[in-house]
Amino acid sequence: MTGSLSAQNLSVRYETPQGAVNALRHVDIEASPGEVIGIVGESGCGKSTLVTALANLLPANARVEGSIVYNGTDLVGLDAHRQRMLRGDEIALVGQDPMTAFNPVLTIGDQLVDFQHRRRDLSRGQKKERIAAMLARVGIADAARRMASYPHELSGGMRQRVAIAAALLTDPGLLIADEPTTALDVTMEAQIIHLLRELRREFNGIIIVVSHHLGVIAELCDRVYVMYAGEVVEEGGVDAIFHDARHPYTQALLACDPARFHDRLERLPTIPGTLPSLLAPPAGCVYASRCDRAFAPCLTVLPPKVTVSTRHAARCHAVAA
Ligand SMILES: Nc1ncnc2c1ncn2[C@@H]1O[C@H](COP(=O)(O)OP(=O)(O)OP(=O)(O)O)[C@@H](O)[C@H]1O
Ligand SMILES: [Mg+2]
Repeated sequence: MTGSLSAQNLSVRYETPQGAVNALRHVDIEASPGEVIGIVGESGCGKSTLVTALANLLPANARVEGSIVYNGTDLVGLDAHRQRMLRGDEIALVGQDPMTAFNPVLTIGDQLVDFQHRRRDLSRGQKKERIAAMLARVGIADAARRMASYPHELSGGMRQRVAIAAALLTDPGLLIADEPTTALDVTMEAQIIHLLRELRREFNGIIIVVSHHLGVIAELCDRVYVMYAGEVVEEGGVDAIFHDARHPYTQALLACDPARFHDRLERLPTIPGTLPSLLAPPAGCVYASRCDRAFAPCLTVLPPKVTVSTRHAARCHAVAA
């Protein structure tokens, strides 16, 4: 089943002995079936927190406010049982380290059968046929032999392919890939990106891709959310973000090397300065302390969301002025 996703005014705090970490603040995200959404931003800006919240997999010390409506159901405040049902059937998350997705003492085949436990209409033999077909689909040759393997017997790239196959076996309406290529070497990374690009053509649900790579985002995605210090600072179609960025942070990211962002291996450039503390976020704009266009209101007033064009918006006083 496929459905639309809409998160409104979503905030996540982590309770820690040092105080509350405001990892996500008033984030709005929307996605429709068939869309590939990119989430980009520096390390620690809340990308994993956002997608983990969408997948209902936040740790126990997380506190969520706002709404996440998927296919007409608000996931925030849903009881644990319903959350599990939805998570298993509809929303699949492929993480950065595919090793953690698998049980080390069970064969790949047994685990991929287990992933399909909700398909009571299928016999074990039919489930194995689906697995063989899906493994072939994600580029794993000799599926029968691989099914008899244990997770540690596969290479990192192969494990990531199996993790993607496992996610697809549940027929999710929402597939989230959180930095699916960071643990891989350059060749493997290129292959996984190629696989995701192929899947995007066949998969009619929503795909959300989190990446540090501007090039991955540019190649794979239809629309992009740029995050900074727990907030979405700019959102827009891939062309708007890469060729008509308005937020000074997005501009700084791209200006570091505009010629090279089409290179899919380009990492996020670094901008001078540091992220504000998430224990005590600034009252005004989160980017003000690093922004060369900051003026008085940026320090005290939360920037408005300024619409640039259809589906292109930036949260910035300078853009509003
Ligand atoms: N379980 C947790 N408890 C307390 N703080 C956390 C927890 N998980 C994440 N954080 C903090 O929340 C902030 C956002 O982290 P998050 O992992 O979402 O960022 P990210 O953008 O995914 O970073 P990266 O690019 O390094 O993966 C960081 O300051 C991080 O230290
Ligand atoms: Mg992360």
